[in-house]
Amino acid sequence: MRKTDIALTAGMVGQQVTLAGWVQARRNMGKIVFIDLRDRTGIVQVVLGQALTPGADDVKRLRPEFVVEVTGTVAERRGAEAKDQPLTQVEVQASRLEILNEAKTPPFEIATEERQAREELRLQYRYLDLRHQRMQRNLKLRHDVIRFIREYLSNLGFLEVETPYLTKGTPEGAREFIVPSRKFPGQFYTLPQSPQQFKQLLMVAGVERYFQIARCFRDEDTRGDRQPEFTQLDLEMSFVDVEDVLQLTEDLFTSLISVVTPDKHLTATPWPRIPYEQAMKEYGTDKPDLRKDKNDPHELAFAFIVDFPLFEHSATEQKLVPVHHLFTSPRDEDLPLLETDPAKAKAKQYDVVLNGFEVAGGSIRIHRPDIQKKIFIILKLTDQEVQRRFGHMLEALSYGAPPHGGIAPGLDRLVAVLANEPDIREVIAFPKTSDGRDVMMGAPSRLPAAQLDEVHVRITEA
Ligand code: AMO
Repeated sequence: MRKTDIALTAGMVGQQVTLAGWVQARRNMGKIVFIDLRDRTGIVQVVLGQALTPGADDVKRLRPEFVVEVTGTVAERRGAEAKDQPLTQVEVQASRLEILNEAKTPPFEIATEERQAREELRLQYRYLDLRHQRMQRNLKLRHDVIRFIREYLSNLGFLEVETPYLTKGTPEGAREFIVPSRKFPGQFYTLPQSPQQFKQLLMVAGVERYFQIARCFRDEDTRGDRQPEFTQLDLEMSFVDVEDVLQLTEDLFTSLISVVTPDKHLTATPWPRIPYEQAMKEYGTDKPDLRKDKNDPHELAFAFIVDFPLFEHSATEQKLVPVHHLFTSPRDEDLPLLETDPAKAKAKQYDVVLNGFEVAGGSIRIHRPDIQKKIFIILKLTDQEVQRRFGHMLEALSYGAPPHGGIAPGLDRLVAVLANEPDIREVIAFPKTSDGRDVMMGAPSRLPAAQLDEVHVRITEA
């Protein structure tokens, strides 16, 4: 089928076109019926009048969301039309109509920009919800952001490497999703909270510049800016210090915004760098919203928060826990504090905040096994625990690990802010509900006993 994109009709007055798409709306004017026809590129009015021969009998059957193919001639649209909407200035006088498929009445309206339906219904019929032009724009924006990043980092010599999803625990402070093993009864894989260890191991492997559009899994309560699975732009570099990572991050996002969302403007360049303590003192948060005008939908206020403490006191136990993760390097000048007063040590750790959201976090890592061991001791991990959980990391660091560090921007949060969406679900094609369910697929779900037997799992009913 040679289908013309609806967006192209604006410049095709006088030409014959074949369009295909969904009926967005139907207006009956006696002998003439108008439909608004929608495809992925836009909406155009189609006139089903006297010129229509094949398909004339079908006009009466047309309902919203029917799928149709129309052949006709593009004409100037008569009457007063909004000048800023080029598609409304033309219409298509149809000579042929074919119904490709019928549609039941959708459970909510597709034609409106408003999201009137409740969350559960929207997610149950996500394939219809995604037909909204607003959602299509969000999908496109997300695509454009990821495409820009891939291109930008590839041009700088970064290699995109995929790391496993079936793996062993990665400490990022959340609970893990676990996957039972069929071949090894009683043993489990865990899904990674981030590719943290693998990207460090890629630095030991000599990759020097790595990135990945990586899915991360964290079994934590869902909120507006939090999903149990989400996507990071994960990146890591060798032979760098804090300055190099911050510079790369700022350059990448400044270029990205100027190309992908040129209507946005930055509150400040270069981005302010605010020490953690100062942020807490001045704003009472480490994610301050630094916009000058919070009503300006085009304003983007980026800032780096730097100099986080290396450790904090555990809320539940008498011990220190890492503020970021336990591979984060102390500042060089604070190394002696590891012996004397580790709670006072500051880290080579940084966050990026954007309009009040934490959109990235990263650090320079420990590349010396002796320092890494010291951290494990301060965290009161037993030798056994260290060997079991991190033996492979200590081993790897002892084979000539280069100095390295990186960062991981959360792509969902970044795209949500760029799209002016209040919730990251609006920029994820198939997100989970606020209580972590996929109501369209019906997950999580019970499994047949035979399938559980195979993976050596028995359910104890509560
Ligand atoms: P961190 O845990 O800070 O760092 O995560 C980095 C960024 O990922 C985003 N993010 C989330 N987005 C949506 N839903 C979630 N549940 C969620 N959790 C985190 C945030 C956050 O800033 N391995 C380190 C990175 C590093 O050190 O390089 C890490 O994962 O935008």
